[in-house]
Amino acid sequence: MAVFNEIADSYDGWYNSKLGSFVDTVETGLAFKLFNVEKDMTVLDVGCGTGNFSIKLANLGCKVTGIDISDRMLDLGRKKARSLGLDIEFYSMDVYDMAFKDNHFDAAFSMAAFEFITKPEKAVEEMFRVTKTGGAILIGTINKDSRWGELYIEKGRRDDSDIFRYAHFKTPDDLKELNKDRLINYGQCLFIPPDIAEEEISMERELKLSKTERGGFICALWKK
Ligand SMILES: C[S@@+](CC[C@H](N)C(=O)[O-])C[C@H]1O[C@@H](n2cnc3c(N)ncnc32)[C@H](O)[C@@H]1O
Repeated sequence: MAVFNEIADSYDGWYNSKLGSFVDTVETGLAFKLFNVEKDMTVLDVGCGTGNFSIKLANLGCKVTGIDISDRMLDLGRKKARSLGLDIEFYSMDVYDMAFKDNHFDAAFSMAAFEFITKPEKAVEEMFRVTKTGGAILIGTINKDSRWGELYIEKGRRDDSDIFRYAHFKTPDDLKELNKDRLINYGQCLFIPPDIAEEEISMERELKLSKTERGGFICALWKK
């Protein structure tokens, strides 16, 4: 996404803020609660961006291939992986038209990218195509039906230059229905609100709010 080229250099800054780092922690926790990692498994990371999850997967022992349509995001991912001594392959490629053979990867993974995917059925079909039979496909995205979804929709509406202007958010049902028959697990996280005061950010608060609030982030897991 060309628009990600423009924000690439500041993208990782979000993960370094207190709220961004907490969001990353709970989203990572949910993703890896659902997605089983086995050493040396080959994993495709769709919309890998600057490699946030490609690096986590590689650190867990996976052989990772990241694809993205923003060259600047990919460049930063390559640089980060190199500086960490990780051997991750990054390709400039569109999820709708991937140059991989059928049944190529043990699993496919995508975090925080389906917000920007306008044809999710086509993208999921492609992710299934390149995954081996029996392999897992995990997608995590912002919940349209949550305070986080509402905030980002409003931000995109209000500000022409905001990245969320280009977002197409999904509800939990939208996500699950991308392949109802093959869905094997689903979860939510990010129960703290986006306008929480910094000093109130904590796992205790996240757990407490999980009893009453809708999660701002949702993950679905399918088996091919
Ligand atoms: C918010 S970033 C997420 C990056 C990373 N997965 C993370 O968790 O930090 C979304 C990424 O999806 C990429 N993207 C959007 N549409 C895409 C498409 N059709 N094919 C591949 N990547 C795409 C964007 O270029 C961007 O880098």
